[in-house]
Amino acid sequence: MGAAITNPNPPAPVLWSSADCRLALLRPVREHDAPLIEAFVNGLSPQSRMRRFHTGVKTLPPSWLQWMLHPDPLRDVALLAIAVDGRQPVCVGEARFALGDGPPGEREFALVVADDWQGVGLGSELLRQLGHRAALQGVERLVGDVMRDNLPMIELARRHGYAVRTHRGDPRLLQVARSLGDAPRHGATRAVAHRPGAASAALPAH
Ligand SMILES: CC(C)(COP(=O)(O)OP(=O)(O)OC[C@H]1O[C@@H](n2cnc3c(N)ncnc32)[C@H](O)[C@@H]1OP(=O)(O)O)[C@@H](O)C(=O)NCCC(=O)NCCS
Repeated sequence: MGAAITNPNPPAPVLWSSADCRLALLRPVREHDAPLIEAFVNGLSPQSRMRRFHTGVKTLPPSWLQWMLHPDPLRDVALLAIAVDGRQPVCVGEARFALGDGPPGEREFALVVADDWQGVGLGSELLRQLGHRAALQGVERLVGDVMRDNLPMIELARRHGYAVRTHRGDPRLLQVARSLGDAPRHGATRAVAHRPGAASAALPAH
């Protein structure tokens, strides 16, 4: 749907444009991004917030904000999609992967797009960027926990070659997984072991 203008030396920022001419800069999260992230998460609809964090918080707790601002630079990747509203930068998307309780070569991912930016291809580009950056880091597999009723995310994951299977730890969830290096295979299925209690990219580990 959108087109990415990519830098040949990732993880450089990427300028993304949608078919309806929206522009966003996809770049790594920075220390001073707290106001952007807070406004973004607090402005999400209850459904989007629930689907991203799997819990019904109304505002972003300070400890979650700190976790979102400080990905492990050697293992994890956290991206923001930044657009301009008037003269102000606004965050319109967030995507990350992080080491959880799985094997060292596995990362757990999560992403969210601002409600009024959904359906124009930004989620697809963020997921593509996560896969690209994970492959460059030598990550072997990306997995994500998705709420069962979250058809947009399930469909998006399938289109990007993720297999979808039952989540063994939480009946509200499905798990999507993709081995990197595999070409995307629509509708492919792959078994992925779930480790109950694994840290998740959806929320900070406790
Ligand atoms: C899931 C989410 C990230 C998708 O982002 P998006 O920017 O809306 O997705 P895109 O516009 O790139 O859509 C890509 C594909 O997703 C699927 N999709 C998107 N919206 C959909 C919808 N409402 N119903 C069904 N499928 C949908 C389609 O396959 C679409 O393909 P298309 O390009 O042929 O239309 C976004 O809906 C979101 O932020 N949801 C709330 C948070 C969330 O669910 N996070 C996932 C936690 S892991």
